[in-house]
Order: sequence, then C-alpha cells, then structure tokens
Amino acid sequence: MSDKPVILVVDDDKNTRDGLQRALQRHYDVKTAESADAALAILDATPEVDVMLSDLRMPGTDGLGLLRRVNAQHPQTVSILLTAYGSVETAVEAMKQGAYDFLTKPINLDHLDMLVARAIKSRDLEKKVETLEVQLNEKFGMENIVGESPAMRQVFDIIQQTAPTQASVLIQGASGTGKELVAQAIHRLSTRAKGPFVAVHCAALSPTLLESELFGHEKGAFTGATAQRKGRFEIADGGTLFLDEVSEIDPSIQVKLLRVLEERAFERVGGEETIRTDIRVIAATNRDLRDYVRQGKFREDLFFRLNVVDILLPPLCERTGDIPMLADRFLKEYCERNGKRIEGFTTDAIGLLTAYAWPGNVRELRNTVEKMVVLSRADRLSARDVPPNIREAVKGHSALGLRTPVLMSGSLADTERRKIMAVLEKNGGNRTRAAEELGISRRTLHRKLRDYRDEQSDEETTGEELKE
Ligand SMILES: Nc1ncnc2c1ncn2[C@@H]1O[C@H](COP(=O)(O)OP(=O)(O)OP(=O)(O)O)[C@@H](O)[C@H]1O
Ligand SMILES: [Mg+2]
Repeated sequence: MSDKPVILVVDDDKNTRDGLQRALQRHYDVKTAESADAALAILDATPEVDVMLSDLRMPGTDGLGLLRRVNAQHPQTVSILLTAYGSVETAVEAMKQGAYDFLTKPINLDHLDMLVARAIKSRDLEKKVETLEVQLNEKFGMENIVGESPAMRQVFDIIQQTAPTQASVLIQGASGTGKELVAQAIHRLSTRAKGPFVAVHCAALSPTLLESELFGHEKGAFTGATAQRKGRFEIADGGTLFLDEVSEIDPSIQVKLLRVLEERAFERVGGEETIRTDIRVIAATNRDLRDYVRQGKFREDLFFRLNVVDILLPPLCERTGDIPMLADRFLKEYCERNGKRIEGFTTDAIGLLTAYAWPGNVRELRNTVEKMVVLSRADRLSARDVPPNIREAVKGHSALGLRTPVLMSGSLADTERRKIMAVLEKNGGNRTRAAEELGISRRTLHRKLRDYRDEQSDEETTGEELKE
C-alpha cells in the first residue's frame, strides 16, 4: 500500500478512464470502475478512497444516483462529477446533493489537479473539525458554566463523573446559582444527549395539573380532558427529565413519582395501560430538602431515590473569585446582543461587583451586567456604571468593616462555615494559607472541611463513590 491519496475514477468510456488514470497516477493511487455498481463494489472493499471522480451520464445508475449512494454509505469520500459541456444544470443539482464540485469535459488537467488537491484538503479539514467537535463536547460540555473557584471545580468534577451514569441527581442551591445550567450540562455529557431534555417546574402547577403534566391523561379523565395527552414522563423517553423545585410536589404525587423512579412504569391519569419509560431524573431545589423530610413534608424514600448523587451549588458570595470571570462572560454576551463595543471593567468596578453580596446570585449578576452594558456609553465600564443600589450596599457594609455582608446572616455555625469557605476560596483552595489567615491549625481546618462534606453526603446512597 502506498501513502498516496486514493482516487476512484468512474466512467463508462474507457478512453476517459485511461486518460484520467495516466494524468493522476503520479500523485495518486488511481482505481477505475466502468459503472456505478463496480464503483460501489470498490468502495465497499476500499473504504479509504479519498476522492471519487464520476461521470454524470452512464448507463444503469447514473452519476447522481451514485453520488447519493456514496454520500449515504461512504461519507468520508469526496465526490467530484464530470459532465459534458452544456449540462451545467445537472451539475448544479449534483452540488446540491452534496458533490464537492464538478468539471466540464473536455477536462483541463491543470484544473483537475487543483480541484482534487483542494477536495482532499477540505476533506481532511472536515475530519479534523469533526474530531475536534467530539473532543470539545467531551471537554467543554460544561462551557456555559463559568467558574474556577474550588467549589465550582468540585461541581465540574461531580458533573463529569456522574453524567455518563444513569444515577438520579439532586441539585441543591439558592435561586440563581445555576441549577438548571448544571442539569443541562449533565444531560449534554450523558449517553442520552441525543434524547430530549424535558423540564417540569413543579411549583408552578396545582397538584391536579402537575399530575396530568407528568403522567399525561386519557380522554375524559376529568372535566376539560377533551383529548388524550402525553405526560412529561412519556415525552422524556430516552432522555432526561428535569424536576425543578421538586420540594413543592404534593405528597399525593410524591407516591406516584416514587413508583415511576422505582419501576420506570406508570399509567396515564384515567388510564389502565401501563406505560414504560426510559428516563434519567435530575431534580433541583432551593430548599433544604433534608429539612423537608424531617418536617414530614417530603417522603424520605423519595428523597433517597432522587438524591443518589447530590450537587450543592454554593451562593455566589461564597465563590467571589468567580465574579470577574462571570462578569466578563456576561459583558461579552450582552455587547454582542446589543451591538456594543465595551472592552471590559475598570478595577474599581470589578472591586464593587466582587464586594457585593449578590442575594440573587449569578442571575442577579447577569441582569446587572446587562443593565450596565445597555446604559453605558463608555468603552470601559467603571464604578460610575455600577447601579447605585449596589454601590450603596457595598459602601454600607464596608463602613462596618465587613468584607462580605453574608457574614451577617445565619447561625453561628453557618457563619463560621461561610467564613472558612470564603477564606479558602480567596486563597485558591490552599489549605495551609487559609488556616493561617483564619488563625486555626491546618488540622482543625481539615477536620471542619471533612465535617461539612460528611453533612452533605449520604451514607445510604451510592453517590458516595462518585463524590470522592
Ligand atoms: N456558573 C455560571 N456560569 C454562567 N452562567 C451562569 C452560571 N450560573 C448561573 N448562570 C446564569 O444565571 C442564570 C440563572 O441560572 P439558573 O436558571 O440555572 O439558576 P437556578 O439555580 O435554576 O435558579 P432558580 O432556583 O431561580 O430556578 C442563568 O441565566 C444562567 O445562565
Ligand atoms: Mg431554575
């Protein structure tokens, strides 16, 4: 075998075949076929054919027919069609059907040389792009999620490890911390990426409506059910079902949900037929679901089913290191959307954004940057462009000598935990330096971090292995 690119010449006219073979054989490994069928047989036996040069008009299957077969069965082969002078329309049709280009007879050999070289190059590029795309997806299925803080890195790790499995995932975090974004990333990185991602906002619907939304209903199941309707469990078949605000599901529906999770089977409302569904469930909540279980508002067995793997998204004020990156990302996005050119933020502006507490988390930061972009005429956003409420809030608590206003709320243990996470974050996850700054020993810090982790994890679930 030579390393020359392989060219297949298809023409019913022997003179043309021989002529092309002579013209091309110096640089290429040339094969010839006198019909479409012969060409397909060669392609089946030699999948590494780089370029096919085919006559358009041939007895039997013509060039267009052959082109369609080659595109379907041998997409790695680039096709160039040869046509008699005057049948340009057919040649245009061929391009529409995916031919790389066409040449009119009599063939100009210089032109042929150039075209073949170009076709091979473009094919190689295409191959490269395809591989890159696959690699990118594997690496950056999370590219929408911005963050470098230790907390977010941990989240990325869990996503990467969990996505390819079928395990249920429970995402907990305050409003605007990116729960839906994480759910989508898990779907995209999973084997179900080609299937649907179906979201249900459980808090928005009354129990009756939620039930029919999830399970669907038969015609006449209740007043207003004028036709049969598929529920989200059915629609999400083969994909991922995202149950948002799962804490708000009525106990009567919690029981039914549990059964679907256990058996992957259910009946439509008012129906008898048992329907099977292949779904992966990701749930999200901004409540302390464990606390709901303790209070009897959420079934414990359902909690364990949902919480096989848990992901905790910390509030933005516990990962202030991510704020500049996030702000930059949103700046670019809104500049593009609004046709504006703004280079970035001044140090003062970033200082203010970093010092603010962001009770609305990333969503609030996003909205703030949007407002700043829309209202500003400067080519760099400065402290003056930061909305007054944020400037004032920051001024207010820096007068009290506080670095972050979060330290004002929550129990003492909460406050300690937040302080520790904030200092750790500030020191880029370096425990020795963080312990020093906190005035505690490295061992104490280590123990506290372990306690926090243990509080979060759940001995009875298999998520344990995934987390470590
Ligand atoms: N790490 C992040 N990187 C980039 N954008 C983010 C990040 N986290 C959140 N966002 C953006 O912030 C907004 C809110 O995110 P999302 O809707 O995922 O939050 P949520 O936790 O589901 O909020 P809620 O509880 O209110 O439903 C979205 O516009 C999202 O794109
Ligand atoms: Mg959400």
